[in-house]
Amino acid sequence: IMAVGPVNVNEFQELAREALPKMHYDFYAGGAEDQHTLKENVEAFRRITIQPRILVDVSRIDLSTTVLGYNISAPIMIAPTALHKLAHPEGEVATARAAAACKTIMVLSFTSSCTVEEVSSSCNAVRFFQLYVYKRRDIAAVLVQRAEKNGYKAIVLTADTPRLGRREADIRNKMVAPRLKNLEGLLSIEAAFDNGSNLEAYANETMDASLSWKDIEWLRSITNMPILIKGILTREDAIKAAEVGIAGIVVSNHGARQLDYTPATITVLEEVVHAVGGRVPVLFDGGVRRGTDVFKALALGAQAVLIGRPVIYGLAAKGEYGVRRVIQMLKDELELTMALCGCPSVKDITRSRVRTQRERLP
Ligand code: FNR
Repeated sequence: IMAVGPVNVNEFQELAREALPKMHYDFYAGGAEDQHTLKENVEAFRRITIQPRILVDVSRIDLSTTVLGYNISAPIMIAPTALHKLAHPEGEVATARAAAACKTIMVLSFTSSCTVEEVSSSCNAVRFFQLYVYKRRDIAAVLVQRAEKNGYKAIVLTADTPRLGRREADIRNKMVAPRLKNLEGLLSIEAAFDNGSNLEAYANETMDASLSWKDIEWLRSITNMPILIKGILTREDAIKAAEVGIAGIVVSNHGARQLDYTPATITVLEEVVHAVGGRVPVLFDGGVRRGTDVFKALALGAQAVLIGRPVIYGLAAKGEYGVRRVIQMLKDELELTMALCGCPSVKDITRSRVRTQRERLP
């Protein structure tokens, strides 16, 4: 890897492992309990084949698309992930600059290590803000208002975290909950620290486990921004989400960090897309490591994918440049896949270009 630099996104993971203290690397890389879903998120992509068409003019490939009306250079966005300063001293500011350079959308995590304001003043990328709802509802209201005031374009409500999943590496490493920059002056978490707290205790103390569908109305009442719901895995919830009139959904199992033995996200994407029936856009995340993975998700109905861990690995290895490289590698791989598959533009990536395991002869 050292001689020529990484040639694919997975090699950034090795560089990140070398660059980071074990506790922080494990925090980023780990999943819940047996980490079954963590492996499956990646493995399930390998069971889908691509069915290329030949003799199509692919001399020009157009990767561009739109999400909620915003033009982006490729259907590859940056997922909300916590605490980028543990990966690199510039934290989310570097990630956001990379998003701007790649002309894509960054979803800033609620649990970021740079503030909403720091990130917006340092780049002109289109930004969405990911929201967790704490028992203290006023905190959500304040953060949403700050996001709106600072030019964020949408709220991504993460709905799969009434409590924190059990991540055993963090328990073993005694990973502590760092003070959250966005919440300075809003929430005293000293209590959580005093009783020798870890991430799990902190989250369970703060998170509002009573949050439910009826609260979407409340969220709508405190903002004019469009609201997306992240963490949908079933047709039932997809239908529900479309019914309550949200602006989009994100098929996600939180990178396998919440409930272990949820299905790999790519295996439920199509079911969700059918349930939604085109009423709202469907975004996707989980296990995307190759341009072919992006292609498969698009063929199964995703409007765009979000990238979690590889972005952090790029950031840990090489800062803003590393994040740019990760996004660029995925874009280049997607472009090549489209050329070799006879798809000159994103709209040509139709359902018949892939086969799932079920559709193949035994
Ligand atoms: C996450 N994810 C996440 N999601 C969210 O809504 N808010 C958050 O603060 C975080 N934090 C977070 C931290 C770390 C270290 C990881 C790996 C993930 C989940 C994230 O948005 C996304 O769903 C997954 O990361 C996608 O899977 P991949 O790309 O990591 O396989």
